[in-house]
Amino acid sequence: MFEIIIALIGGYLLGSIPFGLLLTRAAGMGDVRAIGSGNIGATNVLRMGNKKVAAATLLLDALKGTLAVVLAKQLFGMEAAMAAALGAFLGHLYPVWLKFKGGKGVATFAGISLGFSWHVLAPFAIVWLLTAFITRYSSLAALLGSVAATAGLFWVERYDLAYLFVVLTAIVFFKHRENISRLLKGTESKIGKKG
Ligand code: G3P
Repeated sequence: MFEIIIALIGGYLLGSIPFGLLLTRAAGMGDVRAIGSGNIGATNVLRMGNKKVAAATLLLDALKGTLAVVLAKQLFGMEAAMAAALGAFLGHLYPVWLKFKGGKGVATFAGISLGFSWHVLAPFAIVWLLTAFITRYSSLAALLGSVAATAGLFWVERYDLAYLFVVLTAIVFFKHRENISRLLKGTESKIGKKG
């Protein structure tokens, strides 16, 4: 039990590092929360017009999830890795440093997937890329990608991880509720567009 709590808290602290905010500030680009969707994720950083900072945000927001899972798995085993994954995800979404107003979890979801196995990341990445390429909607790509990763886990009967990913996917949908509403109205902004 002690190890699970350490993994959860350690994961939370790693996940709560708001790379989108830190990198845009360091690059002198202003506050990412003041533009576009107001989100601190890579999609919104891209709306500020700097592809390199957006790519770095995506990478670091993902890697903190990967690192949390891999470290906990090495130190304490699989159950702790799942606790660290949940901690990192919640840390990204609800960072104490930003009064619990964090990101939408997509890059961290991908990084967590990779931390468990590239087999988990692959369905997410394929569906994300295909959807983004066809529709240009980052949010829709994330929603469908997270469902694909979870469905893949049920497909291979990894029920322990599948139930964790049901929870992560449900939270992704909850955090994208405004995007879903815009998608339904046809007013969602496309990748790279400022609006
Ligand atoms: O990564 C978050 C993405 O799915 C949506 O971002 O800024 O368009 O709300 P945004």
